[in-house]
Amino acid sequence: MKKILFLALVLPTLFLEFVGFGAVLKIGVSLPTQAEEHWVRDKKAMEETAVRLGVDLKVQITNNDSARQMSQVENLLSQGIQVLVIAPHDSDSAGFLVEKAKKLGVKVIAYDRMIKNADLDLFVATDNIKVGELQGEYLARKVPKGRYIILSGSPTDYNASLFKEGAMKFLQPLIAKGDIEVIVDQAVRDWQPAEAQKIVEQALTKSKNKIDAILAPNDGTAGGAIQALSSQGLAGKVVVTGLDAEIAAANRLIKGTQSMTVFKNSVVMSEQVIELAVKLAKGESLGQAVTSRQNNGKFDVPSVLYPGQVIEKADIEPILVRSGFFKNTDLIRR
Ligand code: BGC
Repeated sequence: MKKILFLALVLPTLFLEFVGFGAVLKIGVSLPTQAEEHWVRDKKAMEETAVRLGVDLKVQITNNDSARQMSQVENLLSQGIQVLVIAPHDSDSAGFLVEKAKKLGVKVIAYDRMIKNADLDLFVATDNIKVGELQGEYLARKVPKGRYIILSGSPTDYNASLFKEGAMKFLQPLIAKGDIEVIVDQAVRDWQPAEAQKIVEQALTKSKNKIDAILAPNDGTAGGAIQALSSQGLAGKVVVTGLDAEIAAANRLIKGTQSMTVFKNSVVMSEQVIELAVKLAKGESLGQAVTSRQNNGKFDVPSVLYPGQVIEKADIEPILVRSGFFKNTDLIRR
């Protein structure tokens, strides 16, 4: 009798799970850090989207450590996820994880940062060369002649080279002409603000405080650079770029110590990446969502690319506050 009852109750559930009805989709997410606002916003938006769609979302934070990302992703794979969303700490070595996932039939989406030479199903990001172009074009317009510090992001992150490539399209011709003198050109390990601060301190010493512009690849490194300028009474006198539209950066725009940031609406990107992960898990077509193809060294990966947008002080209210990206209370008085 018990057996019959068991079969009557359990078999239909097993069947439904097997054919995919009623089964809760499991999606694994591996993010590099929670020490930057961008990734905190993304995690929250991904989790909220997962709740809305009834998905079991498992998020791991790697703290900028490739070995940790490797073991965390292996752990996610062992939990039976159907899709892996990964923002790699190391754009080269993460290919190994993609291979592992694909062998298990797990679909893989690279988020925000490309994974090189890997068999990805999808890439969801900002147009990262364009981000660099916006930074470079801004500097070339504001400081067409002068002494520059050129910072670039983590050498492990392919975005860092794309940002720099974009910026250099505008700066290189001015360097070649001799209008721009580069005092220091250096990568910032793991995008660490403290590293950026150190590099700028050394460059200020080397140049006897004669610096006109700093290419900072994101708001975190801009914050470190501005800290160094501040100690020399130079904050607000040097043009500094950024990226991510962090609240701290917006407040520096208001104070006049940072000149611009590039806004990428990573909340929208995060919502969409989870929606598309669900479609991939269900084997549905991604339809119109795929807007371009980005080469990762192996093939042209189907991609969803968002535009970036330059933000100066006057754009904070109309673009960042009115869209709900910031609350007015996040900001210092203007
Ligand atoms: C992202 C930036 C971010 C940086 C540091 C890059 O890959 O595109 O938005 O500021 O990593 O986390």
